[in-house]
Amino acid sequence: MAKREILQYPDRRLRTPARAVDVIDERIQALIDDMFETMYDAPGIGLAATQIDVHERIVVIDISEDGSAPRVLINPEILERASECDVAEEGCLSIPGYADDVERPERVRIRALDRDGTSTEIEAEGLLARCIQHEVDHLDGRLFIDYLSELKRKRLRRRYEKAARQRTGQTLGTDAG
Ligand code: NI
Repeated sequence: MAKREILQYPDRRLRTPARAVDVIDERIQALIDDMFETMYDAPGIGLAATQIDVHERIVVIDISEDGSAPRVLINPEILERASECDVAEEGCLSIPGYADDVERPERVRIRALDRDGTSTEIEAEGLLARCIQHEVDHLDGRLFIDYLSELKRKRLRRRYEKAARQRTGQTLGTDAG
């Protein structure tokens, strides 16, 4: 297993739509292991392959507090969304240091393959429903901040572009010395 680098907003690669997984082979199993290691290390409760620059439809989730409930969703499809919505604060490992309220359907029914390739349907509510929707959005190149007002998005973009420039500047400085 190896920890992978998590892409940071506004990296354009986070906008890449992921393609479906055809065969769940050893490469995919190793990728899933790496995704769990990266998510638990961060720490986070969900990670989409998109976030480690692998554009295939795989999500790992564990909303337990002690890492006891790992879930793998391969090629997840949202079959049904509740018409009732709720609002809760979200954050993202690709947008560290920012959280904001997002409105989403409070329940979803999804179908996905698990890591053995078995198709399962899950009815989720609360935090799990929110987490699934957030991660499936990543696979479609969407981020939770896309749901915020244009003004907030513009401010965030400026703030994170500046932070990215500073990171690059520091790296160049170190290399030059
Ligand atoms: Ni995220």
